[in-house]
Amino acid sequence: MSRLADKQICLVVTGGIAAYKAPDLVRQLKAAGARVQVVMTAAAQSFVQALTFQAVSGQPVHIDLLDPTAEAAMGHIELARWADLVLVAPASADFMARVAHGLADDLATTLCLASAAPLLLAPAMNQQMWRSAATAANLELLAARGVHFCGPDSGAQACGDVGPGRMSEPAAICAAAEGLFGSNELLGLQVLITAGPTQEAIDPVRFITNRSSGKMGFAVAAAALAAGARVTLVAGPSTMAPPRGCDVINVRSAAEMHDAVLSRSANCDIFIGTAAVADYTVVEPASAKIKKSGAAMSINLVPTKDILAAVSASPERPFTVGFAAETERLEDYARTKLQSKQLDMIAANLVGMPGSGFESDDNELSVYWADGGRELGKASKSLLARWLIEVIAERYHGQAI
Ligand code: PMT
Repeated sequence: MSRLADKQICLVVTGGIAAYKAPDLVRQLKAAGARVQVVMTAAAQSFVQALTFQAVSGQPVHIDLLDPTAEAAMGHIELARWADLVLVAPASADFMARVAHGLADDLATTLCLASAAPLLLAPAMNQQMWRSAATAANLELLAARGVHFCGPDSGAQACGDVGPGRMSEPAAICAAAEGLFGSNELLGLQVLITAGPTQEAIDPVRFITNRSSGKMGFAVAAAALAAGARVTLVAGPSTMAPPRGCDVINVRSAAEMHDAVLSRSANCDIFIGTAAVADYTVVEPASAKIKKSGAAMSINLVPTKDILAAVSASPERPFTVGFAAETERLEDYARTKLQSKQLDMIAANLVGMPGSGFESDDNELSVYWADGGRELGKASKSLLARWLIEVIAERYHGQAI
């Protein structure tokens, strides 16, 4: 059965020649079992008739932000809440710019802003518009906020140009949409995840931190959501946007992260400690900025509380998964942590090298449990997160039986 079965998809069609492929996209989404409602921008109606979408979706097409027949019940907000996925295909350069800047001056942009569902864009535009600095900046901004993209493809364009900017084929867009829903293997479970670094204050303007960007933890949260879990993400300071759909608790220090996690861990089924939590904190941060002097200075540090060990030792203990960041003897050190913190599983990565571990988009993970393990290999953090969630689900359900 397709992962799109029974999913509620709001398809936004914007103005562009590729809009002619959108009715086929609706047909393929429906064939996979999804329920589809179509929203059209004013420009889209110059390319395809609303009646066509009404016929293929079997639903009235939404066009106006303030439709008097639906607005008594705040129709645009209802639609935003109804959607499990907001899919924009084709997504024009203009539409990407408007979403990137939070405009909400028509139904389509309002929907993107008002929905907590994942947002998937299938861009389609002239190759020069795609390559422009403005579109590249909008793409970067949207991607950093957790918006997903499918395509564009490269090739001959309707305007006669050749290059990137053709909308992906409907089958590829369907596959991308399906990928966002994962497998339902954590359906109904509550998953608590930590991500990012912590900051330990030295004085009001200085702190001790580490190189964690939050990418790995946010990818794990997105993968857990895609697998059907309800996700609470306790995040240290990060410039990345957390995935849409998580309940996000922002914290700064290890102590704040400890309290945020321990006050929630009894009500979760699975805990995943991806954060790079400071092992030491400043004994007494100065209340005013420390003045420079010629003399050497030292800072007194004390160990922080170990969040992972505390969750694992708690009476109503969830299935507890740790991470191990090592610079050598990966399996040895990871297994020692697995045992000493009494974990169900640990995901281990080598750090301190370019191309994996901290900050990079890719990573290499090995997963260990008491009597086994699995090499997940080297891949993007989002792919590794999906594989990690698959292993966690397998072990969690195996244990629950
Ligand atoms: O954020 P990115 O830039 O994407 O980088 C990802 C990552 C390298 C940070 C991530 O993949 C990772 O390895 N996270 C764990 C980092 C870490 O602190 O590892 P550790 O071996 O020092 O700690 C072991 C485990 O104990 C971790 O699950 C950690 O969250 C936990 N811990 C540590 C100290 C503490 N006081 N409390 C804890 O819960």
